[in-house]
This record gives sequence, C-alpha cells and structure tokens, in this order.
Amino acid sequence: MRITVQKTNAPKAKPSSEGALGFGKVFTDHMFVMEYNESNGWHDPKIIPYGSIELDPSSAVLHYGQTIFEGLKAYKIANDDILLFRPEKNMERINISNERLCIPQIDVDFCVEALKTFVDVERDWVPSSAGTSLYLRPFIIATDPFLGVHPSYTYKFIIIASPSGQYYPEGVNPVKIWVEQNYVRAVKGGTGFAKTGGNYAASLKAQKEAQDKNYTQVLWLDGIERKYIEEVGTMNVFFVIDDEVVTPELSGSILPGVTRMSAIELLSARGKKVTQRQITIDEIYNAHDRGALKEAFGTGTAAVISPIGELNYNGNNIIINDNKTGPVAQELYNSLTKIQTGEANDEFNWTVRV
Ligand code: COI
Repeated sequence: MRITVQKTNAPKAKPSSEGALGFGKVFTDHMFVMEYNESNGWHDPKIIPYGSIELDPSSAVLHYGQTIFEGLKAYKIANDDILLFRPEKNMERINISNERLCIPQIDVDFCVEALKTFVDVERDWVPSSAGTSLYLRPFIIATDPFLGVHPSYTYKFIIIASPSGQYYPEGVNPVKIWVEQNYVRAVKGGTGFAKTGGNYAASLKAQKEAQDKNYTQVLWLDGIERKYIEEVGTMNVFFVIDDEVVTPELSGSILPGVTRMSAIELLSARGKKVTQRQITIDEIYNAHDRGALKEAFGTGTAAVISPIGELNYNGNNIIINDNKTGPVAQELYNSLTKIQTGEANDEFNWTVRV
C-alpha cells in the first residue's frame, strides 16, 4: 500500500523550551490515518495535517469503547538520526489487543513502515534534550454509526505524535504508591492484557482518590483474592528482594509491557536473576520487615523506569531504599536510555533507524 502525504501549509510553532514539555500536551503538524471496511480491508493510508476528525455521534467507539491504543517513542540521537525503540513489539501488541476487542488484525510490517514514514515527516519535531522524545500514539477506533452492541464493520487507525518529557512530575525521583484495596483493574478473562481505553477509564477513580491522598499512582492487586500484585497505574512493577529481581507473571490480567520485557532481557543479560511469578503484597511487606526489600520500581514506555520510594497498604506506610533510586533501577535506566538514544551499543538489536 502506498502512503500518500499531504503536508500542512500552516506549520505550528515548535515548543520554545524542551525542558517544559511535560507529557502529551503538544501535538505535531501531521497525523497518519488509515481506514478499514469489510470490502477493502485496511486501506487508504495517508499522512495529513493534524486536526479534528469527524465522527457520527452514533459511532460505536463513543458508546461501547471498542478501541485500542499503543505508546512508543522516537529519539533524536547524536548525528540527528532518529531511533524507534522496538516498534514491531508495539505493533504486534496491537494485534493482541485487536483480537480481544474484535478489531481486524493489522499488517505489522506495514504499520512499522507507516510509523517510520510518519516520523520522517515529523523529524523536526523530535526533541533532543536529555529525557525527551517524540511520543507516538497509534490507536484504532470503531466508527460504525449503529447503536446495537456488536463489533463494528468500519474502523480508523490513527497515529498522532507529541514531543514529550517526563511522564511523572517526580521525573526519575521515587514516586509514592497507594496499594488499592477497594477497586480492581482487571480479572483473568477480562481485558487487562489488552491496551484498551476501558481499562484506563475504570482506573481513573482509584487514581484520583490516591492523588487526593498525595500518592502518585495506585498499585493494583488481583481482582479475586485481592492479594497478588498486578501492576501500577501506567507501569509494570518490579521488586528487588535480596539479590533477586521479581515481577508479576503475565497472568492474563496484566499488560505485557514492552519496557517490562526489555527490562527482563537486559537485567538477565547483565547476570541478574529475574523471576516472573506470583507475588503477594504480604510478601513485599514481610521482605521489608526483615530488611530484604532492596528496591521497587515501575517500567513503562511513558514512565521509562520509575523508582518507587513509598508504599501504603492498609494504612501501613513503608519507605523503600530510604526513598532513593536504588542501584538496579539506576543501572537499568542508564542502560535502557543509552540504547534508546544511541549512546550505547545496541547489543540486542532493539532500535530501528528512521
Ligand atoms: C505508555 O507507557 O506508553 C502508556 O501507554 C501509558 C499511558 C497510559 C500514559
């Protein structure tokens, strides 16, 4: 499929200070759009000026949330080249989410090419200061104008881009996390492993209540026994207990994060013992009580590696590693970001040049 490109004739001013970008607030000049219908499949891929999209008010996505999304980043490197980080993993995950949401599969190779073409058009928007990147947000929405509950016959696949800095205001400093006991995020058989808007809509109330109590995010427990650790609001979660790094296994209700996968591969390659298994919240508190809980941190595309300095569970507050970034999180952050920004040898072949 040939991607047509229609450039804007009214380019926007670029942000004047990369230091003040924040996350997901500024959008570039263009967007990628592709349509789906039953007779043509995915068709008509194009890059057009960024702007509003027209939807019938009865569109399926607006009523029943048939939608998926992804998040990945493009980095400007020393010679002004641009690197994407494992884009094929995000595109493969789109198809996992699509399958669960009854959305037709995409062609992974074509969509990686589309991403590269789009980023190339927006290359002047990729920021270059430390800690910044062009955050790419591919998403698919169901567009059938019909109020019956059934999978849509028509869809739009869109990619937008946002020059961004840190996701959390804390940056790489430790965050405070509230262990959620009232609300649950997902259960096996639900949509927890898919990247779909409904998972996030359902998380907002818990997140708001945690933020009202001055915590950055919630840590979700499993929806049935309410004792196994699942993930943090926008990140997968890791703990260092004695010399072992542990992270919840992918149980069907946890998002299979690309940064999670990369962290496991990187730490293992550096000789660390990394175990994916069930972890109870009691185990974490017991490990803390006997001095074995060395570190906790989250991993995510937007958040990168985010140390956790404090947990509150059932009214009991614990401080982890003196509320400082620990050596495992720091080393992981350094290794990962150096590969992403081309400062270190890409020993795993993870980056894709645009
Ligand atoms: C990402 O890390 O890219 C995510 O999708 C999390 C997001 C909801 C901010």
